[in-house]
Amino acid sequence: MSQGNPLLRPAILGDLVLPNRVVMAPTTRCRGSVPSDLHALHYARRASAGLIIAEGTLISPQDVPFPNVPGLFTTAQVAGWRRVTDLVHSLGGRIFVQLWHAGTRPLPSSEVTSTIADYRTAAANALRAGFDGVEIAANGTYLIAQFLNPRLNHRTDAYGELPRLLLDILDAVHSTGARVGVRLSPYWSPTDSAPPCPDYFPDEETLSHYDDLVRRLDSPAYLHLRGPASFDLDAFSRYRKLFDGFLIANNGFSPDTASAAVESDLADAVSFARHFIANPDLVTRFALTQELAVADKAHNYTGGPIGYI
Ligand SMILES: Cc1cc2nc3c(=O)[nH]c(=O)nc-3n(C[C@H](O)[C@H](O)[C@H](O)COP(=O)(O)O)c2cc1C
Repeated sequence: MSQGNPLLRPAILGDLVLPNRVVMAPTTRCRGSVPSDLHALHYARRASAGLIIAEGTLISPQDVPFPNVPGLFTTAQVAGWRRVTDLVHSLGGRIFVQLWHAGTRPLPSSEVTSTIADYRTAAANALRAGFDGVEIAANGTYLIAQFLNPRLNHRTDAYGELPRLLLDILDAVHSTGARVGVRLSPYWSPTDSAPPCPDYFPDEETLSHYDDLVRRLDSPAYLHLRGPASFDLDAFSRYRKLFDGFLIANNGFSPDTASAAVESDLADAVSFARHFIANPDLVTRFALTQELAVADKAHNYTGGPIGYI
């Protein structure tokens, strides 16, 4: 790849200028429930990304899917994240945070209102912590997707029509003044967060629910779309037609397929998870057409600096 690489062209994301279209996808790494200097090192080393989307971050102590996942609900967490964002900004970067509710236990309808309030508080805390915006995780098999996806849906009886919960959360989070991106995927699997995962291909009913939802999104900062596990550029063109805002494509992109997606205008930017784990200098490697290192997934969730920094 050369300097003509479309991934290295600047992009306009609302009122932000991204110096390139290489986005760091959210990656849970279980390095502590309060962000530390280890997190600061991890993100600062990746500050040359056009945009960093920090790992899935819990909105409430009521829903902790596993240990050592950071949150945005205590003063110490806000202070820890502030050190991370200050460092990324001082190095010229931009950083959003993914707000996450795993939905590990049933959510009675009486708790829906307080869950929406938790999203609003977490978004306000994200602004206090210096983030440039938040991403709402509506992908995977997590709480919001449990309301969205007919195949996962055992929740609608508790809370109206399928997209209602996500739309209400977006309204609540917007009210804080935060820039808000949405991460979606009609393609889910039980192990969505850590590929390779079994392919799940949505039926037409599911796809049409997602079409409807995407049409109803009220100008989010971006739509972050995770495509099918078996890589397929065409899957993105469907959403390109439905959504005229900033589209970030993800899942299984190589440097060449990512360039092709941007060059053919299927997406404005491409996000990378595994390549950023192994290559903090991913943008530089793209610019110099250098080979990419391969991540050792044994260190995905082990804690400590090895395989992380
Ligand atoms: C270790 C690891 C942790 C992940 N954590 C998250 C997460 O917190 N939130 C999320 O939406 N996706 C998460 N993912 C999924 C990635 O963001 C991405 O969708 C997936 O890895 C496919 O992109 P890639 O081919 O560039 O790796 C994770 C993936 C990995 C490998």
